[in-house]
Amino acid sequence: MTLSEYDHKADFPVFEKYPELAYLDNSATTQKPRRVIEAVEKYYREENANPLRGLYGLAVKATDAYENARAAVRDFIGARSEREIVLTRNATESLNLIAYSFGRANIGKGDEVLITISEHHSNMLPWQLLTEEKGAKLKYLRCSESGEYTADALKAALTPRTKIFSCAQISNVFGRLNPIKEFAEICHANGTVIVCDGAQSVPHIPVDVKALGVDFLAFSGHKMLAPMGIGVLYGREELLEKMPPFLSGGEMIEYVTLCGATYAELPHKFEAGTVNAGGAVGLHAAIDHIRGIGFEEIERRENALTRLAVEEMRKIPHVNIVGAEDPRDHHGIITFTIDDVHPHDTAAVFDEAGVAIRAGHHCAQPLHKFLRIPSTSRASIAFYNDESDIEKFIGCLKTIRRRLGHSE
Ligand code: ALA
Repeated sequence: MTLSEYDHKADFPVFEKYPELAYLDNSATTQKPRRVIEAVEKYYREENANPLRGLYGLAVKATDAYENARAAVRDFIGARSEREIVLTRNATESLNLIAYSFGRANIGKGDEVLITISEHHSNMLPWQLLTEEKGAKLKYLRCSESGEYTADALKAALTPRTKIFSCAQISNVFGRLNPIKEFAEICHANGTVIVCDGAQSVPHIPVDVKALGVDFLAFSGHKMLAPMGIGVLYGREELLEKMPPFLSGGEMIEYVTLCGATYAELPHKFEAGTVNAGGAVGLHAAIDHIRGIGFEEIERRENALTRLAVEEMRKIPHVNIVGAEDPRDHHGIITFTIDDVHPHDTAAVFDEAGVAIRAGHHCAQPLHKFLRIPSTSRASIAFYNDESDIEKFIGCLKTIRRRLGHSE
């Protein structure tokens, strides 16, 4: 298999320090390219002041850097206006914002919120808290063994009381792509608002909020080459406009008196306190990097490496892949178990061999319970991985049972 002439790893300084590292934990966070690191450094060397506040030259530069990042995000996900792009800390904060602000204003006693059984805890706990507080009902859509959710199952689960359906576009355990566009049409025909957790999809496939028809989309910068601490909430303007603030304090106001306040225009109404301008600049550079490579190349590389890994894993006795048969349904995420081996032992052996994977429940405990698997191991691939990473992963995987005292 030949991926391409270009060595993407050369763009990532971490691989200069650890040239032998096979980093296969990209669903947890990606490494950062030089372009992102340098953009953040340049911002702090040359443009730093408190954005949106000062009227002096440096503050204007900082504001421009921050707002240009927002414009880049808007363009990247095809939103109609920058008013629809709220910069948050991460997908978790974006989902909490929706549940707290939209949810508290729109969910009443007896209403229903529907989510899937495979949601990450970040797209589960905010809805648990909301429905508990409001006397509403939280319902779970169950998937097949291979992680599939069908349109018919969604239709059957919706009722006239279902106010919100929240669903990951790509599951962080199965790697399976949900048909969000179809789900959005079904939800809207039922008068249900659809929230999409794009944490695992936005870094890997083109996502256009208009084409998908979602009402909200949440994602994190750090899973798409940007620094930690910067994330995105997209919301349809007419919904965001009517929503009350989430956090309150500086910069999200228009006018404050001793008796109350009026709030800033969108999106600043939802950005209380000093913003993460350095993170936003990093996110802008990350988007430029991804666009420079293009999703065609990203998907081609990730699919090819996933196929190679899945095909080789299938040849190893006692290794069981969670989810779909077809490698194309994994989007770089390969969750697996090894008979009679605890995933923490698996991860420790991989670590010794210079392979970084994740072990545990991947912040999806109810899904593991549903699948009757206590915990799993997960390799997750990004475009900058190459064949040598997969070879190292497979080579180590073949040895694990024997190293832990099993006969084969
Ligand atoms: N949500 C991240 C993961 O799935 C941390 O690993």
